[in-house]
Amino acid sequence: MDRPFCFFISTSQERFTNRPSVIPDKDNTYAKKYWVMDCSLASENILLAAHALGCGALWTAVFPEKDRMNSVRDILSIPENIIPLNVIPVGVPVKKDEAPKDKFKEENIHWEKW
Ligand SMILES: Cc1cc2nc3c(=O)[nH]c(=O)nc-3n(C[C@H](O)[C@H](O)[C@H](O)COP(=O)(O)O)c2cc1C
Repeated sequence: MDRPFCFFISTSQERFTNRPSVIPDKDNTYAKKYWVMDCSLASENILLAAHALGCGALWTAVFPEKDRMNSVRDILSIPENIIPLNVIPVGVPVKKDEAPKDKFKEENIHWEKW
């Protein structure tokens, strides 16, 4: 089974600042149903790998915002059959000792049933 994504990595300071992007090929049959999930998981792996390397990284949405998709297509010369999902800026955190925000909410956890 073909994987519905490819990655664009730019080290150009002018275009992007070290931003890998996950870009699925929407002509792939499997990708038509599952590309968002597959590419989101691949994105999560990039975020985890960045964290493991001591870097900071975050998901910035491209799909489904048409204007953002057009901008990224334009900058990276991406053809129409390729959907740019996100841009993931990666950098070195200035405040290394700051604890991550705790976003845990008990009310979002459901045991056994809703
Ligand atoms: C699907 C998705 C799209 C996002 N798009 C953007 C975006 O376009 N711009 C942005 O600044 N943050 C965006 N975020 C939020 C950041 O990735 C990050 O989660 C947010 O800055 C929260 O950081 P924090 O955990 O330090 O509070 C998006 C998050 C998700 C899950």
